[in-house]
Amino acid sequence: MTTDPAAFDAFAADYDDAFTGTLLGTWLRQRVWQVLGAHFPAGQHILELTCGTGTDAVWLAGRGVRVTATDGAAAMVATARRKVAAAGLEDWVSLRQLSWQTLCAAPAAFARPGSFDGAFSNFGGLNTVDQWPAIAAALGQLIRPGGKLILVPMGPFCPWETGWHLLHGQLRPAIRRWRGPATATIGQATIPIWYPSARRLRRDFAPWFRPLAVRSLGLWLPPSYLSHLVDTRPGLFRHLQRLETATARFTGGWGDHYIQVLQRHTQPPAPQK
Ligand SMILES: C[S@@+](CC[C@H](N)C(=O)[O-])C[C@H]1O[C@@H](n2cnc3c(N)ncnc32)[C@H](O)[C@@H]1O
Repeated sequence: MTTDPAAFDAFAADYDDAFTGTLLGTWLRQRVWQVLGAHFPAGQHILELTCGTGTDAVWLAGRGVRVTATDGAAAMVATARRKVAAAGLEDWVSLRQLSWQTLCAAPAAFARPGSFDGAFSNFGGLNTVDQWPAIAAALGQLIRPGGKLILVPMGPFCPWETGWHLLHGQLRPAIRRWRGPATATIGQATIPIWYPSARRLRRDFAPWFRPLAVRSLGLWLPPSYLSHLVDTRPGLFRHLQRLETATARFTGGWGDHYIQVLQRHTQPPAPQK
C-alpha cells in the first residue's frame, strides 16, 4: 500500500511556515544537516527523495554537492524549483517529480545503475509507504557500491506524543503509532501513515545496505505539531535540545523521528533461486 503523493500538494504553500521556519524545525533540521554534511562531501552527486520544498537540496548545493531532488507532489516540486532559482543554484540542483511508486516500478527508467554517490529522504517522506524492501532494491540499484543512504522516518516510539495524549485523556492518539497504519489529514485528504521501527528498516534494507548508525531525533524535544510549546519556552527547550544532541547516539530509533545511516554493500545481493 502507498499514499498518492498528490495529497501533499495542499501542504506545499504552508509547509515552510508550519515547520521549516519554526524554531523547533530549525533545530531538528540542523541535526540532520550535521549527518548529511558528514556523509555527503562536496563533489558528490546525491539523489534526494521526498524533497518537499527543497530546503535540504539548497543547503547541500551551497556546500558544493550536486543534487537530483525529487518529490511525488507537483506543487512541492514547483515550490522547490522557485527556492533553488532564488538561491541561484539551478546548475547544482535538478528537480524532478518522482513518487516512490514510480521509482520502485522501474528504477532503471529513472537513472543508470550506480548513478548516485548517495541518497536521502528527510522528515517522514518514507512514512507514506510500507514497501520498504522494494525501495531498498530500487535505491540499491541507483546508489554506487559503498555509497551512503540516510533515512529520517517517523518512528513508532515517541514518548512525548504518548505522554502528551495520555495527559489529555486521549488513549487512541497516544498509541496510534503502534497499531498498523495510522491516518493523517492533509488538506481535504485522509492518508495512511506507517511507522517503521529502526530494526524493521535495517532488516528490509539488509540485502542491499549495511547499517552504520542510528540516532534519535525529537526525543526530548516535542513532535513538530507541538512546536508552539518551544516558542513559548525557548530557553527551557534549548537545554533539552542540547541534551538531545548529546544523547541521541544512545537512544537509537526512539523519538518523533530517527536518523538511520546505511551503506550500500560492495556487491549486489545474490539472485534468489
Ligand atoms: C513531511 S514532508 C518532508 C519534506 C522534506 N523532505 C523536508 O525535509 O522538509 C513529506 C514529503 O514526502 C512527499 N511524499 C509523500 N508521499 C510520497 C510518495 N508516495 N512519493 C514521493 N513523495 C512523497 C510529500 O510530497 C512531501 O513533500
